[in-house]
Amino acid sequence: MKITFLTIFPKIFDCYLNESILKRAQKKGLVKFGIVNIRDFTADKHKSVDDKPYGGGPGMILKIGPIYRALRSILKKSEIRNLVPTSVGISASLRKSETNPKFKFQKSKTRIILLSAKGKTFDQKMAGKFSKYKHLIFICGRYEGVDERVAKHLADEEISIGNYVLTGGELPAMIISDAITRLMPGVIKTESLKEESFAIRPKNKLKIKNLKLKIVCEYPQYTRPEKFLNWQVPAILLSGDHKKISDWRKRHSRTKIQKQGERI
Ligand code: ADE
Repeated sequence: MKITFLTIFPKIFDCYLNESILKRAQKKGLVKFGIVNIRDFTADKHKSVDDKPYGGGPGMILKIGPIYRALRSILKKSEIRNLVPTSVGISASLRKSETNPKFKFQKSKTRIILLSAKGKTFDQKMAGKFSKYKHLIFICGRYEGVDERVAKHLADEEISIGNYVLTGGELPAMIISDAITRLMPGVIKTESLKEESFAIRPKNKLKIKNLKLKIVCEYPQYTRPEKFLNWQVPAILLSGDHKKISDWRKRHSRTKIQKQGERI
């Protein structure tokens, strides 16, 4: 899989992507990260990526033009259809989009995701869905916002990582990429993933007065030493008795209860 970040702060990504599991996944050729500087696609001599909002208001808004041109530069030729040539200019192609319902980058294995606080909240299910694509492109928003036409015409979806406002989409893009990368075959041990799916398997669904509930469990984990200061690891975990350990873990699972269709 390839993951491309469109950003005006390309340096932000370096240290996180080049450590630990993500670094190993790249070395093994399981994932490839690409960083595209939106500023490289500006059309004026000041290289401006943002401008004042129409209608007034505080702050600056990321312009659609550089984002559009950056996307065109990374999408495959076969994925760009129903668009007028770049030389005609962004406003013309957007005018066309208003009248052409088929206007979209046409692609099936690539997904364009805009990070924004007003998007749909990211969860583990989305991580699974995204991990099936060949190419994910994250558009990292900044400042007071991104021209709404990016969400409407260029992105396939708008995603948030939670109900709080950050200074930009770079951290959310890395968080989502991390959650996706670890699901790819060969990135981490399959047993670790199995343990997680145990927590959400259908058997764990409860039905109370027509209300379907899903139980998500996380049990406490310990490692050496057996005793630190006065704090002892529970004896059962040292017993080697798998059945007892499994029962203990079930009993000590921190339980979050999720209503059908609700996110926790
Ligand atoms: N940009 C600013 N806040 C964000 C959030 N919570 N999620 C995704 N992108 C954001």
